[in-house]
Amino acid sequence: MEDEDEFDTMLKDLQNTIEEDERQTYSPVVLREYRNPTYFGVLQHPDSVGEIKGPCGDTMRITVNIRDGKIQDARFWTDGCGATLASGNMLLKMIKGKTLQQATAVTPQQLLDALEGLPSEHIHCTVLAVTTLKKALEQYQKKTTKD
Ligand code: FES
Repeated sequence: MEDEDEFDTMLKDLQNTIEEDERQTYSPVVLREYRNPTYFGVLQHPDSVGEIKGPCGDTMRITVNIRDGKIQDARFWTDGCGATLASGNMLLKMIKGKTLQQATAVTPQQLLDALEGLPSEHIHCTVLAVTTLKKALEQYQKKTTKD
């Protein structure tokens, strides 16, 4: 029993240290997005899919559904870091309901601003999210202009 109490105390201390480190490293927006990534997943019957493996070795996949030229729904999946989760989630929030043109025009800088910044070693995570979305939208345009 004593061992269990000691274990719990050590675990809580460790969690507190980790949370404090996170607060010092990431903006409140980034922490909110990556702790609750509501757009994480894969659409069952997507109109288009984009997948890119970034230079860091992490992959992102974005599935989208498009109706009347607008993003009706979208989901992202990644095996990447917390900043990638936050980037994917925020990006899909930003583009939901937007036209294809508006969604394609979102830049990594706009995503970075919406996240209220990232540490410099994680800025590429926003680029991975934006390029993956662009790929999904390009695939859709190719498919629909061919049909
Ligand atoms: Fe690879 Fe974030 S560290 S995408």
